[in-house]
Amino acid sequence: METIPWWHEAVVYQIYVRSFADADGDGVGDLEGIRGRLPYLSELGVDAVWLTPFYPSPMVDGGYDVADYRDVDPRFGDLAAFDRLVADAHARGLRIIVDLVPNHTSSAHPWFRQALEAPPGSPERDRYIFRDGVGDEPPNNWHSVFGGPAWTRLPDGQWYLHLFAPEQPDLNWRNPEVHQEFLDILRFWLDRGVDGFRIDVAMGLYKAEGLPSVPPEAEGMRADAPMWGRPEVHEVYREWRKLLDGYDGDRMLVGEVWTDSAEDLARYVRPDELHQCFNFAWLEAPWEAAAFRTVIDDTFAALGAAPTWVLSNHDVVRHVTRYGEGSLEPDAGLARARAAVLTMLALPGSAYLYQGEELGLPEVTDLPAEVRQDPTFFRTGGEVPGRDGCRVPIPWSGTRPPFGFAPEGAAEPWLPQPPEWAELTVERQLADPASTLSFYRRLLALRRELAGSLPPGIAWLETPEEVLAFTRGPLTCVLNCGDGPVPLPAHREVLLASGPVTGGELPPDTAAWLR
Ligand code: NOJ
Repeated sequence: METIPWWHEAVVYQIYVRSFADADGDGVGDLEGIRGRLPYLSELGVDAVWLTPFYPSPMVDGGYDVADYRDVDPRFGDLAAFDRLVADAHARGLRIIVDLVPNHTSSAHPWFRQALEAPPGSPERDRYIFRDGVGDEPPNNWHSVFGGPAWTRLPDGQWYLHLFAPEQPDLNWRNPEVHQEFLDILRFWLDRGVDGFRIDVAMGLYKAEGLPSVPPEAEGMRADAPMWGRPEVHEVYREWRKLLDGYDGDRMLVGEVWTDSAEDLARYVRPDELHQCFNFAWLEAPWEAAAFRTVIDDTFAALGAAPTWVLSNHDVVRHVTRYGEGSLEPDAGLARARAAVLTMLALPGSAYLYQGEELGLPEVTDLPAEVRQDPTFFRTGGEVPGRDGCRVPIPWSGTRPPFGFAPEGAAEPWLPQPPEWAELTVERQLADPASTLSFYRRLLALRRELAGSLPPGIAWLETPEEVLAFTRGPLTCVLNCGDGPVPLPAHREVLLASGPVTGGELPPDTAAWLR
């Protein structure tokens, strides 16, 4: 019998390392902190953990500015701590995925320092994208994703490209040395036992020959932009796939690919390329049954039976807050968030959860300017608040910050936690069977229990416009996005509901699993 690779139906928990758990008391999360919380993750019922970058970094972009791809930043621990974490996770049956950042390095990376010292036209500069300007103007009109121009000028007159912060110079993937270096970095972590890699900005890497300017209306991460989704990038993933296939144990690659369509996404997961891509379509959809139905249909049509599902990550507003926007009901955001995850986890494929969503954490929207750290905030003059609000350290226990995030007497957490999170700590929620955490634990346990009986496809049920309902083998899932209660489809038993269900009716903003 053909065995299904572990990642096909896995629930992967994303750990934003700086904000998960701080063991050494410096106010920043670390690898030992994560190791100490592995029992929590096992009991939650996830299959794998994705760790955001923990490599040596000046932290201009929260570690996505990597200065050394083969080490651990002292803030987070060291390689021995990493090895202990992998060993303990594996002993519990939890897989470890690490983040790989191939589009750019940190400006503190030795390669970039060498490039700054070397003259224009040198092999050192050829590892990055240095160009002469047009008079006093940059080589083209590209913008940084974080705001402002994508070029910075050096005293010798040349400019270098950075699609993100100036401290994140883009690598030149047309240089074979870059390919060799990343193959070697992959080997380094594969040999240390990692189960997979999350590929940062996987639709980046290559830029169109000649670096043509873009018409302003074509900006953004469109598939046909000269800096995203170039055909050459697929050769990189074929190279990497070959390397991974030479290792035992189902190692995998999951790409961060922002596209306009599921068809574009599908190009990255051809059989000899990445194993998975994040499917951000649901995350981008409004709270409407019709929109979710389209996302699900398009996803299966383009990506087959083992896609991925995502509601939140460290780059977007937490979905409790997103779903609450525009609703008059004060608790609509949380109710919808619970209903969305219940629906999503009924679907074939794997799911990526973002730390804290199992606690129903909202976005922290009122962080003062002086504590903010996201370069987006600074590069837009504060116009775009940035992503700090979804990165606030996790509340574990107690009634006052740091809520068990750090030991007694530790430095203040790197971002302040709202005092009202006393209500949302893990400790509080474990004691409450109606809490969001208890709901997630029941949900993941039930998903595991049913796994063997669920086929890789779904069938839609006839429903009113604002309701979504489908069967997957013995399981029926129904979601009510409308304003009033609706009758539940025929069933013998309500297995789990995201909110109270009585009298055979499903209230608004609620989902249920039926049998
Ligand atoms: C995507 C990462 O998720 C984000 O946090 C980062 O800022 C950019 N890539 C640049 O590396």
